[in-house]
Amino acid sequence: MLSKQMEAALNAQINAEMQSSYIYLAMAACAEAGNHPGTAAWLKAQAQEEWAHAMKFYAHVNDRGGRVVLQTITQPQIEWPSLTAVFENVLQHEQKVTGMIHALYELAMAEKDYAAIPMLQWFITEQVEEEKTAGEVLQMLTVAGGSAHTLLFVDRELGKRGA
Ligand code: FEO
Repeated sequence: MLSKQMEAALNAQINAEMQSSYIYLAMAACAEAGNHPGTAAWLKAQAQEEWAHAMKFYAHVNDRGGRVVLQTITQPQIEWPSLTAVFENVLQHEQKVTGMIHALYELAMAEKDYAAIPMLQWFITEQVEEEKTAGEVLQMLTVAGGSAHTLLFVDRELGKRGA
């Protein structure tokens, strides 16, 4: 059985993951409008991954006899000045999510919630990957340096994920 505090924290995380999904979808829409279809495909795949993260927490709350309570999703930012700005934002966002997952893990440890700990360990590993990937894309964009030719190449590379 989940403690009330853990149940509330997991519900907040469901909301954060759904919010992440919405943020990445807003970034995808911005990329579509800027004629960067590969980047849009990458971001849409990321949005789906965040939905799956939310559902993993959703399943955990239900499996433990808790009650899922969905909360408000706020309107995300709608415009970014460049692809570099988008991925700077992706990296910052993932670093923020990592902090939230670590806080959940600390709560699980403090409560001796042995069922939540392995589930959260999966997310800790996932966040390492998420930050690494965002950093790699940002690095590619930095090297591309804003030239139309190299940006086209990066966009095609990113499109491979969505394919
Ligand atoms: Fe669900 Fe990108 O962290």
